Amino acid sequence: MIIELDCPSSVRKQLGKLFAEALKQTVPTELEIVPLIDACIPKDGVKHADYQCNNAMSLFAKIKGKQEEFKNPRSLGEGIMKNLPPSEMIESCSVAGPGFVNIVLSNKWIAQRVQKMLTDGIDSWAPRLPIKRVLVDFSSPNIAKEMHVGHLRSTIIGDTLARMLEFCQPECLIRRNHLGDWGTQFGMLIAHHFEKFPNSDNVNESNIGDLQAFYKESKLKFDSDPDFKLNAQQSVVKLQGGDPKYRKAWEQICNISRTEFNKVYQRLGIHLEEMPESFYNELIPPTLEKLDKLGLIEDSDGARVIFVDGVDIPLIAVKKDGGYNYFSTDLASLWYRLNIEKLDWNIYVTDVGQWQHFDMLFKAFRRAGWLPKDENEYPICTHIGFGLVLGKDGKRLRSSLGETVRLVDLLDKAKEKSKIALLKRGNTKEWSEEEIEKASEAIGYGAVKYADLKNNRTTNYTINFEQMLNDKGNTAVYLIYAHARICSIIRKSGKDIEELKKTGTVVLDHEDERTLALHLLQFTEVFVESCSNLLPHTLCEYLYNLAEIFTKKFYSNCQVVGSPEETSRLLLCEATLVVMRHCFYLLGIVPVDKL
Ligand code: ARG
Repeated sequence: MIIELDCPSSVRKQLGKLFAEALKQTVPTELEIVPLIDACIPKDGVKHADYQCNNAMSLFAKIKGKQEEFKNPRSLGEGIMKNLPPSEMIESCSVAGPGFVNIVLSNKWIAQRVQKMLTDGIDSWAPRLPIKRVLVDFSSPNIAKEMHVGHLRSTIIGDTLARMLEFCQPECLIRRNHLGDWGTQFGMLIAHHFEKFPNSDNVNESNIGDLQAFYKESKLKFDSDPDFKLNAQQSVVKLQGGDPKYRKAWEQICNISRTEFNKVYQRLGIHLEEMPESFYNELIPPTLEKLDKLGLIEDSDGARVIFVDGVDIPLIAVKKDGGYNYFSTDLASLWYRLNIEKLDWNIYVTDVGQWQHFDMLFKAFRRAGWLPKDENEYPICTHIGFGLVLGKDGKRLRSSLGETVRLVDLLDKAKEKSKIALLKRGNTKEWSEEEIEKASEAIGYGAVKYADLKNNRTTNYTINFEQMLNDKGNTAVYLIYAHARICSIIRKSGKDIEELKKTGTVVLDHEDERTLALHLLQFTEVFVESCSNLLPHTLCEYLYNLAEIFTKKFYSNCQVVGSPEETSRLLLCEATLVVMRHCFYLLGIVPVDKL
């Protein structure tokens, strides 16, 4: 499912409008032809045009014999070109090959558009969503169980998606932490605690020590000692029945986990609104009752299940022992999201392994008539899956002891390594300790985020510190350095950019000035593609190309400070900074001004 974003500032969209007009004039019998406009990609470093309209070939097949004046696709292409309404956007057009209409944009128009963005701000380029209320369910770790690298991916990708959607200014955007705080593991943990510390009513960190180790201890006991198992099961019943002593212990355990999760969120600058699984506890029975009344729930071997289209196994809504599970909570929470929170778009970010869970959940809702039969009709539910995180050896990431890697350790290691590299470069002699810390964090955490986001999220990805902290190649470090370099060019000029924005004019006389400015304008169409497909790597690619064009073309061939074109070129530097910073913002990366 692709969401259509409305984006009047996109160059493609604007050309599309002109060509829609031309197509209507040229072939009046074919109604509503969608203009096919693509940006041209340079071949062997040469680009013959900026954009291309590709309608002539397929359209000719449709009208063949109906309009005598067009003998072949090429002549149809020429017809389309002649019927283009006059526009200040276009410098020239030509027909190439079998009928492509090549478009070269006007330098003056490109320059004016960049200048206008500098005055109006990048928000003036924001597209609009066709809906009002959006929720992104991401991160969502489980209390007491490990917060593993999969949750890190969900946190990084989910945060970026939320930022991208926020840029489109929906009426409401919720960043939801569907914390797993209600599983059967709590019976086990609480029972173990009361057995281990019989004189203590309180659960506190010093009793528990490392919660993951404590979890393992209880699990071992649970699996080997039938009496303990019974005790644990009774503890769950007590907890779910609201026994104050058990409720209190549960709350305390949750808080210990929360402190650990918050360390990760704080480092990564992530804000989430927590609505944990336990919140839906009371809502599960009425939701199941409604589904039962609709005839969806069947008995199967003592369990209560729902069958959905095209899947052999049923969705288990209530377990054999009468307990609720992951599905029960998601049935209730989706009901809540649709009926109480009235969301138009509900996005779940988890590993691809959970694909079937969500497929069955959405299908059950469709069967109940609670989601439209047509998947493209609102409200929409989307599961965003991502691949596994692998270690250098290509296997699932583990620490040297074979344990899961603690996320805080992973982030601290990235920061530490970036600090060492920073100090080694030796530009930091005059920096304060705080400046060094800030830059190391920006680079270290930025590197972890970017290394994840730059891959197509559906593929597995390998954590490699050497690679992600390299200052060359497609890394956050390279990008942050490029940003700092542009800041330093402006600083060196000694000019007041705000003043230049008011009095100066962008002029594009040099080919590389033009290439840079056009790439800046193309931000919106790339953003639209990235956001409507929920694929952040497209945006990463754009940002990397921007840094490359700036560094290898513009800055190598166009002297800025002290040149006759200084004002215009400084404005181009500033426009590059604005777009770069916005990309960084969307990717959750903090750039630095000097390095
Ligand atoms: N806690 C789950 C996990 O760790 C992710 C929850 C995703 N959200 C949801 N509504 N099911 O895999």
